[in-house]
Amino acid sequence: MNPSLLVTGANGQLGRDLVAAAARAGITRIHAPGSVELDVTDSAAVSGAISWAGRGTRLVVINAAAYTAVDAAERRGAARAHAVNAQGPANLARACADHRAHLVQVSTDYVFAGDGVEPNRAHDPTVPRTVYGRSKLAGELAVLSSGASVHVVRTAWLYGAHGSNFVRTMARMARGPDPVRVVDDQNGNPTWTADLADGLIALALAVNRVPAGVLHCVNTGATTWFGLARAVFAEVGADPGRVRPCRTAEFPRPAPRPANSVLDTAGWAGAGLPELRHWRAALHAASAAGALAG
Ligand SMILES: NC(=O)c1ccc[n+]([C@@H]2O[C@H](COP(=O)([O-])OP(=O)(O)OC[C@H]3O[C@@H](n4cnc5c(N)ncnc54)[C@H](OP(=O)(O)O)[C@@H]3O)[C@@H](O)[C@H]2O)c1
Repeated sequence: MNPSLLVTGANGQLGRDLVAAAARAGITRIHAPGSVELDVTDSAAVSGAISWAGRGTRLVVINAAAYTAVDAAERRGAARAHAVNAQGPANLARACADHRAHLVQVSTDYVFAGDGVEPNRAHDPTVPRTVYGRSKLAGELAVLSSGASVHVVRTAWLYGAHGSNFVRTMARMARGPDPVRVVDDQNGNPTWTADLADGLIALALAVNRVPAGVLHCVNTGATTWFGLARAVFAEVGADPGRVRPCRTAEFPRPAPRPANSVLDTAGWAGAGLPELRHWRAALHAASAAGALAG
């Protein structure tokens, strides 16, 4: 029998696609609180929600709640980032252990320094260079040491139909007249949240046979932000030549971005989980589904 599912942060770009993917997969008992209905930093509320959602049934919790403002976290958001990204997962893991639920904790490429040339493997050393990355790593370590049944799934470069993200920004700029300059020295795996959501639901349905631990899940293939921007322009029928390359050093940001965010997904495939399609095919599908509109 399919498990019950609790998606936290259900109004975020991944959260919304998780709810849709779960329904597509035939999961009928789906609890999907947004941050107002369930604040993951409130340990009593978390415990109550997991106890209630898991009554009389097997429960999988997917934590899509996060503080994702990476630049704001450097300036004044450090305490909030730690509360949501580290304390929140710790609360969820404790409640999952108490109520025999399984936790899928979504994490990020920002746990890596990103200064190597090879794709980052799940068990490579973690050296976060940002407040956000350190808070997400603290969340990983909290859930992995909690005694709960847990998978940590790192992903990267997300874009979805329901959020502000790089792909939607580029689609908007493509519809205007101006050229844009985009960095061409950071590499990653652009990942459509709808595809990631299907992958996470496949994991949720297989938690009993996939060894617990850390996995990576992204659309396959890699490019730079420049390459992605050009592909977005092409998708919406604009001239990709209007996108010009530049270097990261020309646009310093409060939170330094990893130069190499590419994630190795061998563990995901090795566990028998469905590999996500190539990022370019995913972008085309996202465009066809209207995710680049607006
Ligand atoms: N975006 C990326 O490129 C990217 C890359 C790698 C990994 N990830 C990871 O992927 C996951 C999903 O990211 P996303 O892009 O979907 O993020 P998102 O769109 O920013 O959604 C995050 C959601 O979490 C909610 N939230 C914030 N604080 C909360 C709290 N205390 N309790 C409950 N919910 C809370 C937010 O609600 P409010 O808006 O109401 O605050 C928001 O709806 C996160 O774990 C993120 O770290 C993202």
